[in-house]
Amino acid sequence: MRMPQPHASGLAARLWGALVGVELITATSTWLIAAVVGPRLFRSHFVLAGQPLPPSIAAHAEQAFRSANLLALVLGFFVAFVVSLTVIVVVTRRIGRSTAALSAAATRVASGRYDTWVDPPRLGSEFDTLAEALNRMAGQLQTVEATRRRLLADLAHEVRTPISVIDGYLEAIQDGVVAPDQANLELLRNQTARLARLSEDIGAISKAEEGQLDLHLEPVAPADIVAEAIAAASKSFTDHGVELSADVARGLPTVRVDRQRIAQVLANLLANAVRHSEQGGSVTVTARRGERHTLEIAVIDGGDGIAEEHLAHIFDRFYRVDSARDRGHGGTGIGLAISKAIVEAHGGLIAAHSSGEGHGAVFTVVLPS
Ligand SMILES: Nc1ncnc2c1ncn2[C@@H]1O[C@H](COP(=O)(O)OP(=O)(O)O)[C@@H](O)[C@H]1O
Ligand SMILES: [Mg+2]
Repeated sequence: MRMPQPHASGLAARLWGALVGVELITATSTWLIAAVVGPRLFRSHFVLAGQPLPPSIAAHAEQAFRSANLLALVLGFFVAFVVSLTVIVVVTRRIGRSTAALSAAATRVASGRYDTWVDPPRLGSEFDTLAEALNRMAGQLQTVEATRRRLLADLAHEVRTPISVIDGYLEAIQDGVVAPDQANLELLRNQTARLARLSEDIGAISKAEEGQLDLHLEPVAPADIVAEAIAAASKSFTDHGVELSADVARGLPTVRVDRQRIAQVLANLLANAVRHSEQGGSVTVTARRGERHTLEIAVIDGGDGIAEEHLAHIFDRFYRVDSARDRGHGGTGIGLAISKAIVEAHGGLIAAHSSGEGHGAVFTVVLPS
């Protein structure tokens, strides 16, 4: 890649040009005025003085006036020229130094070094704003880059696990060490299902995070949202021996939501809740009016709970708490990230609360109504 060379003389040359232009124009106009108006003024003052001088003395005096005038003009312009020149040299050096630092920093950022920082040049607010914007841009790019790397690493990790299981089993079957019986085929299919789910989730999360979820909003009664979620999850709850109940406040106003997307959010929350509950435990879904005309839907479980240090991260993509109960199951850590993207696309909020491990968890979805 060809690097653009800094034009050290660019700004100075322009200022020089401007200076020479200004000096030429001023010199010409001053000279014109001095040559045309000056002698006339001089003579009229002589006339006003009343005493007519002999012509030889008058000519001499006029000559003296002209020379004095010329000397003053030449000296004045020389001083002005030298001072302007000094100012230009000083200013262009300072600006040059600062812009060189800024362009060096921008070049470093362009070549992928996002840990770049420039100090504000203190050359006025314009330059400080420019430096600040550059620093912010570098910081932003650094965050994006870090996320991209982590995402790729997480993805590679997520894909590697099922593939190595499948590969190991296929090899063992090929060698005749393991029989291709129903149980082993089932195990293999579980792994391919996990890969399929992963690719679906990744598709959904990229769409959701790019804000490309096209929501089909329609007015829905909160009681219907809760009832449908409970109906969809009830089989899984019965299988796990966990009780599932609803508590919906009366007279809640309808909300405008994408019915299926919100169902997906609640399905995610309920799947997490049942997975983190003991057999014999219970989970409640509540709906009530929140602050400022919002609808608050909460999924409350009395299960494993979430330790403080994990709470801030569980909505991140691929973030999973490595709890004993979670270890065996094939979750991808994307469910809550998708839920968050869906809720936020509705202009809502999702939050998690827990008093710590073993104290259950509450996931609250706040939707504008
Ligand atoms: N109700 C809950 N109780 C305890 N921990 C939870 C609960 N819901 C989610 N978590 C934690 O948050 C993590 C992220 O959840 P999620 O994004 O749905 O991913 P996944 O379910 O695939 O692990 C889970 O790994 C789990 O540790
Ligand atoms: Mg989940």
